[in-house]
Amino acid sequence: MGQPCLNTPRLLNKYTRIYEEKTSKSRELYEKAKSILPAGITYKIRDFHPYPPYIIRGIKQKVVDIDGNEYTDYWMGHGALILGHSNPEIVKIIKLQAEIGTHFGYEHPLAVKWAESIKRNYPTMELIRFTNSGTEANVYAIRLARAYTGKKKIIKIQGGWHGSYNGLHVNVHPPFTGKPESPGMLEEFSKYTVTVELNNISDLKGKIRENKEDIAALIMEPVLGAGGGVPANREFAEEARRLCYKYNCLLIFDEVITGFRIGLGGGREYLRVDPDLSVMGKIIGGGLPAGAFGGRSEVMKLLNHREVEKHVFQGGTFTGNPLTAAAGITAINYLERNHSIYDRLGEIHSYIEKEVNKISEETGLPIYVTGTRGIIGIHFTSKKPINAREVFESRYCEDIYRLVNLYMRTKNVLYISESIMHLLPSIYHTIEDAEKIVSTLRNVLSESTAS
Ligand SMILES: Cc1ncc(COP(=O)(O)O)c(C=O)c1O
Repeated sequence: MGQPCLNTPRLLNKYTRIYEEKTSKSRELYEKAKSILPAGITYKIRDFHPYPPYIIRGIKQKVVDIDGNEYTDYWMGHGALILGHSNPEIVKIIKLQAEIGTHFGYEHPLAVKWAESIKRNYPTMELIRFTNSGTEANVYAIRLARAYTGKKKIIKIQGGWHGSYNGLHVNVHPPFTGKPESPGMLEEFSKYTVTVELNNISDLKGKIRENKEDIAALIMEPVLGAGGGVPANREFAEEARRLCYKYNCLLIFDEVITGFRIGLGGGREYLRVDPDLSVMGKIIGGGLPAGAFGGRSEVMKLLNHREVEKHVFQGGTFTGNPLTAAAGITAINYLERNHSIYDRLGEIHSYIEKEVNKISEETGLPIYVTGTRGIIGIHFTSKKPINAREVFESRYCEDIYRLVNLYMRTKNVLYISESIMHLLPSIYHTIEDAEKIVSTLRNVLSESTAS
């Protein structure tokens, strides 16, 4: 389909120049950064063309770059900041806690309270352990599943991102080869990983039957995050649950994004399916580094060295530290007291979907919105994607993603990434913000399709 890409190369040049004009200090810093940080950045996903804006401040739903440009932010600290940048309650508790101890390296009461706050909302997490990141929490959840079942294979979803753990960093990005996605990761690491397409029940059944003797766990995000903000449908999740019972493997929900984002009860509540283990991160840390995993006592008790001689190991210097715990408890309490914010996030999602449908009609470009409440995916695809393959393979113009991202930057709207358009709003995002992103989208698409 050539037509929808008509003016894209010309507009990429035009708006690159405009971006460069307003971000000269970022450009300067980028030159320096390249000499000390590979590619001048700290994480590949944070890269932008021709260089990233270097951010120096965040307040509510806005961030400010080193040139003084203020952007409406739809990335919100990788989705961790549902309470906005520099939320006063979080800032206050961090200051208070810092004065009495950021890190004891001993047990402390806040870890107990933090675990209770999570369990109140995720009752299937009967026992919980903390980590410093979502990646780490997934490492332990998989380890636990293998220890509990005595089996090796893990089923994951195509396009599912669980962090860069060896066995899970496969089939995340197209062309979905099944090979490890980074040099340095041995093929041996992923030979026990089996991949299934999201919402494809026959694929799920087939792969589980083929490997039934040796499946330790099926891990899935209730809504694909990095894979485009595509929700699992309830039938798929119910079938996953049924098959995991049937073949004695554990169902793991990776709720690192969905936890406390698509509702207080996250993906478990959304899908109405109980996993054996849940993995959390992002929001539970109140903006500080965090992760957690938890689930059925019978499984989690394998971590109990007092009862189980050959117990599963988990630990780490900063795990469950009091600073993150204090921020995390405050964030969760805030969300519990103000749970109507999820309805607001739902309204923002519906508004954007409705308006994007109108833009699609006006411009003649197929555009689809996926996701739910706090996760909004926008796709320039020939059909509404229901899995990651469709997110990537049904695109009619790759460069539109780059152009929209670049254009939005010139109009003071920021989100990651240039290759996928997903938005993670916070409690501070308003319908006016949504109007702005929609009108900006309308303008760039009108310009790109004008003959
Ligand atoms: C669903 C999911 N799981 C795991 C991770 C990894 O978490 P972290 O980046 O905290 O290691 C991410 C990160 O974006 C994620 O989206």
